[in-house]
Amino acid sequence: MTDPAHDAETLRERALTTLTTARARTTLLTSCVEDPDLTAQHSPLMSPLVWDLAHIGNQEEQWLLRAVAGREAMRPEIDGLYDAFEHPRAERPSLPLLPPAEARHYASEVRGRVLDLLESTAFHGTRLTEAGFAFGMIAQHEQQHDETMLITHQLRKGPQALHAPDPEPAPLLTGPSEVLVPGGPFTMGTSTEPWALDNERPAHVREVPPFHIDTTPVTNAAYQAFIEDGGYDDDRWWTPEGWAHIRQHSIHAPLFWRRDGRQWLRRRFGVTEVVPPDEPVLHVCWYEADAYARWAGRRLPTEAEWEKAARHDPAGDRSMRYPWGDAEPAPEHANLGQRHLRPAPAGSYPEGESPLGVRQLIGDVWEWTASDFLPYPGFQAFPYKEYSEVFFGPEHKVLRGGSFAVDAVACRGTFRNWDYPIRRQIFSGFRTARSAGEA
Ligand code: AVJ
Ligand code: FE
Repeated sequence: MTDPAHDAETLRERALTTLTTARARTTLLTSCVEDPDLTAQHSPLMSPLVWDLAHIGNQEEQWLLRAVAGREAMRPEIDGLYDAFEHPRAERPSLPLLPPAEARHYASEVRGRVLDLLESTAFHGTRLTEAGFAFGMIAQHEQQHDETMLITHQLRKGPQALHAPDPEPAPLLTGPSEVLVPGGPFTMGTSTEPWALDNERPAHVREVPPFHIDTTPVTNAAYQAFIEDGGYDDDRWWTPEGWAHIRQHSIHAPLFWRRDGRQWLRRRFGVTEVVPPDEPVLHVCWYEADAYARWAGRRLPTEAEWEKAARHDPAGDRSMRYPWGDAEPAPEHANLGQRHLRPAPAGSYPEGESPLGVRQLIGDVWEWTASDFLPYPGFQAFPYKEYSEVFFGPEHKVLRGGSFAVDAVACRGTFRNWDYPIRRQIFSGFRTARSAGEA
């Protein structure tokens, strides 16, 4: 069976569009502030923006110009500087990095050659070129760093540098607050999605007992009820590690929140504003998500439950690419791609809902799941162990669904993200679940 969307010329066109979209975003994120803000380190958790910029170009050169086309290194002396494993983020500002103008020039030189290569490369023959995989991988890599750079912008002190329209107000949600996902097997992961990364493969059947899952992500208002109920002062709701962590770091609310009399304020891209009650909660760590769920008498969904809620079509009894079906994400489906610089209110995007009526699984906020980041049965590292394999294990928790900050090319029903359970500078939120048959 041939899928017309996987036709080589369609994929080549998609590669060009998505690489171009990514570069436009990278350019905006690295030109909306002055050079000193590109070379500064705004948080020890992040690289200087100018590192991300040259790293984007360097990965593109390594995988497309060298691995695919067999060219010589353009600047062999810089590879080490932009190897994420050689230098931890905190060290990067003290490296002899390419200054902003040189970094821009390097990335655009690479891109010029890549666009020529894209026209002349056959989309079959090797695993890297099959269906244009390496081009898709590099577009995803750039977009992932565009999300990382947006996190750096959020951490940066100083006036607003980025602007975007707000999402529409949400339509009134009149349905139930949770839905029942029937028990039984479903297909998790993919073996057919052409640009799926190694950790999403292969497709395999999972037995998932029946469970209920929230219709929308947990909102700021709901999360505030947990705070006002003393949630951060009651060790019953926390794992021992989570409790120790919030005590040691005096954590009492999501990152960027500040109490102002009876209300909560937050800082968002240089602007201080009242926390909007109906928006999905953002900038919580796994420990906070897990504690909230326990306080609410619920739990985080497992990764398999999340994916079943997002992909299972009870009518067709198959796994779809997205909650709404197989069509590529469009603006009416989900809040993706930094079109807005915030999540949309809970209940938004009715056209993006799953057949069972679950909303906002894709876009808005990355959703913490209960699960550790582990390989699927039959996993093979491709094309390099440092993308996924070195991160497998209990120290990382899985996040699903993408945020407002990630582009559609790096977000789908099977896409897996991961981070340490203490991380909250990321665009993370969550929804809760409960096993069927439990109160
Ligand atoms: C999948 C988001 C955890 O940013 O560390 C970027 C993506 N890998 N460059 C990260 C990634 C290599 C990765 N995450
Ligand atoms: Fe990278």
